[in-house]
Amino acid sequence: MAIERTLSIVKPDAVAKNVVGKIVDRFESAGLKVVAAKMKQLSRAEAEGFYAVHAARPFFKDLVDFMVSGPVFVQVLEGEGAVLKNRDLMGATDPKKADKGTIRADFAESIDANAVHGSDSAENAAIEIAYFFPASEVYGR
Ligand code: PPS
Repeated sequence: MAIERTLSIVKPDAVAKNVVGKIVDRFESAGLKVVAAKMKQLSRAEAEGFYAVHAARPFFKDLVDFMVSGPVFVQVLEGEGAVLKNRDLMGATDPKKADKGTIRADFAESIDANAVHGSDSAENAAIEIAYFFPASEVYGR
């Protein structure tokens, strides 16, 4: 399988719960490597821009309100099949439907405070990584 990169965000609920390290450990234990990372308070404009594809959805305002409610931990993960591997580790969007042992099943409270974001394709990963990190801040292979 090809070496890929994906964007991962530890969302404000998980940062507030002090489980950033536990979540990063899930990725590292599964063979993914953190090749860029930073803590960041998103502005409204940054959150709206990041989720622009969801702008017409009924939950858009709630999603943006939540994403600016506290700092997030943004990282780039690199490894074999990183996009799908990250999505598998995260579990379903709604933590009530997430498989046991996934990040959302273990750390998330609800569909609107669901602990993590992960890119849904290699194509979107490239766009999302560039949204947060200039190439000079990514230390991959
Ligand atoms: S996904 O992962 O894109 O297939 O999930 P999707 O259901 O399309 O949701 C897109 C993002 O919106 C978030 N979401 C919500 N936020 C607030 N309230 C409600 N009801 C809600 N439903 C979905 C969901 O967590 C996705 O955010 P990200 O950051 O991409 O995981």
